[in-house]
Amino acid sequence: MDFETRAIHEGQEPDPATGAVTVPIYQTSTYVQEAVGEHKGFDYSRTANPTRRALEICLASLESAEYGFAFSSGMGATTTLMHLVSPGERIVAVNDVYGGTYRLLSKVYRPKGYDIEFVPHDEVAAAIDDRTRLVWVETPTNPLLNLVDIRAVSDAARAAGAVVAVDNTFATPYLQRPLELGADIVVHSTTKYLGGHSDLVGGFACTNDPTIAERLAFLQNSLGAVPGPFDAWLVLRGLKTLALRMRKHSENARAVAEFLDGHPAVERVLYPGLPSHPGHELAARQMADFGGMVSFLAPSAEEAAALVARTEIWKLAESLGGVESLIEVPAQMTHASTADAPFATPPNLVRLSVGIESADDLVADLESALVRSAARA
Ligand SMILES: Cc1ncc(COP(=O)(O)O)c(C=O)c1O
Repeated sequence: MDFETRAIHEGQEPDPATGAVTVPIYQTSTYVQEAVGEHKGFDYSRTANPTRRALEICLASLESAEYGFAFSSGMGATTTLMHLVSPGERIVAVNDVYGGTYRLLSKVYRPKGYDIEFVPHDEVAAAIDDRTRLVWVETPTNPLLNLVDIRAVSDAARAAGAVVAVDNTFATPYLQRPLELGADIVVHSTTKYLGGHSDLVGGFACTNDPTIAERLAFLQNSLGAVPGPFDAWLVLRGLKTLALRMRKHSENARAVAEFLDGHPAVERVLYPGLPSHPGHELAARQMADFGGMVSFLAPSAEEAAALVARTEIWKLAESLGGVESLIEVPAQMTHASTADAPFATPPNLVRLSVGIESADDLVADLESALVRSAARA
């Protein structure tokens, strides 16, 4: 079945008890047993819950994965994955990662003795050596929208015996499926495009490797960073419209990037869909479209801060991937935790999460905010 059909039906048979077409929210912590150990496959909701199970089956299918695991947040998924490696082992990570991932790796795991090296997006494959156990990739990266070649990194990792995890939050499985390109694990913040409506916090990880899957099932239950049934249900509902939304996010982002490109009050636009982007060809190869995230450099940090306070439709807020358009200054907001990192988030960088409103309205709102900032400068 095609992606759009699986997004609506996979793991979501009508409820056997009532015929309900929509998977019910099984808001229960425990399940009755006929006799000790005799039950219908569910004994405690940290271990398994039918609503969460439906989400895990559906989203794993969208990522071309055999095994899926839902978590309480993207960081909950990342924390759980970090338990696949041990202190002393080497981890190579792309340096331009979500600020919270940088904070977790550098301030929580590095002090415990994990040997973590952050490298530029185009040096990840070359940095993998025989000591490397885990490779952490984000592509497109947050917030600089750099591209990492998933196939090249996966080939290098396989030769070295390392596992590759790809944070696919920005692209979503509709635009990019890392397991098909050779990666071992895909991780998500379902808070973003998968939920799609800025009304939940959640995470996800999936794989085709039965050994990794067995360990992840054990870790999911042991560490306990699981989503509640209602949040799992909200993500499941979000998935049903993922394809439609990603098409519109990409279309709107293209219109916004083209408008910003060459605007006198904009220094540079970072959008993989622009032919001038250094990762454009790679993005065209490994993604079905270029996604809904656009970053650009304002003339100064002051201008960036002033601009984001002047838009009306674009709301000044952290996060991304919802139907509504958001604007932010990563250096002071989502990526403030990278302030002491050896790589810098430019202080004049503005990040846009382009929503699915009318593209004309979005461009007009940006235009009027830019005109006012140019007049003041
Ligand atoms: C690319 C990326 N990965 C992971 C996360 C963490 O997800 P969560 O906020 O759901 O813990 C985020 C959050 O912004 C993100 O942007």
